Amino acid sequence: MGFKVLVTRIIPPKAQARLLEQNFELVQWDQDSSIPRNVLLEKVKGVDALFCLLTEKIDDELLDAAGPQLKVIATMSVGYDHIDVAAVKARNIKLGYTPDVLTDATADLTVLLALGASRRIKESIRAAENGAWGKWGPTWLCGSQFTHKTCGIVGLGRIGEAVGHRLKAFGISRFVYSGRSKKPEAEASLNAEFVPFDELLQQSDLVVICCALTKDTQNMFNYEAFSKMKNTVLIYETPLQVLVNSARGGIVHQDDLVRALEDDLIGAVGLDVTTPEPLPPSHKLYSFPNCLILPHVGSATMETRENMANMTLENILAGLSDKPLPYSI
Ligand code: GLV
Ligand code: GLV
Repeated sequence: MGFKVLVTRIIPPKAQARLLEQNFELVQWDQDSSIPRNVLLEKVKGVDALFCLLTEKIDDELLDAAGPQLKVIATMSVGYDHIDVAAVKARNIKLGYTPDVLTDATADLTVLLALGASRRIKESIRAAENGAWGKWGPTWLCGSQFTHKTCGIVGLGRIGEAVGHRLKAFGISRFVYSGRSKKPEAEASLNAEFVPFDELLQQSDLVVICCALTKDTQNMFNYEAFSKMKNTVLIYETPLQVLVNSARGGIVHQDDLVRALEDDLIGAVGLDVTTPEPLPPSHKLYSFPNCLILPHVGSATMETRENMANMTLENILAGLSDKPLPYSI
């Protein structure tokens, strides 16, 4: 038997077949939901490598439970806010993730949310299904369009830039962005302007959140921020200003978002991420017709998920043979 490896879910079929070909002592969680914390703490004991998802919190408690032989942790995600990176590095454990491969899939879904929120897709689907189609008329279910509008991108990284290029094709005529640092190349390719966060809120018709969750971005979108967003005049309930978050739920102060929706500070919202995940079906946010919520499916295409799983496996294999990880944090 080779190295002991814990994989916290069944992975996409091609990568799963490749995983089974390895000479591992494989421990794999095969249920249809995330591995419970207590089971994870038990199963991680004595493993040499851990293949995890964003649903597993990687902290000192888990590293203690694993033991000193743990060589490598690879997460099948681009985000790594679920990992205490300093704690992992302090133990000289190699750490990998999956950058780049999910950029297109996530950018596609971000645009889908932006369009869906702007064009009142949730209400439209309900109207068709519930027999309200007879109300059809000149202003019925009117949304707003992107042509000649300003889009603000919070975090012009790979995903933010890919979202920008897609939105350009939909007629967005001006891009502004904010973030920790200027991004000269992405800025030039979108003809975007770097502005302070407050200005971005004031100027944008469409605000898309594409930054990582860090202590600086946590709850960045609070009631005060929502109050600064461009005034939303609701003519025939048309959402004139739209907010999309496909990054991490924690960037938005969710109770403040509920208040902002109640107070009509935002025209419409599209979310692929929430706090917590899953967001319980009884949550108030679901009750707003202008709040579209998806269950964190940004990277959920089979092509992308196979690639992510493969990269994670590459990271595990490199780590176990004491090589630098190909996709290292
Ligand atoms: C998705 O949210 C990821 O971080 O991979
Ligand atoms: C964020 O993770 C990005 O790649 O933009």
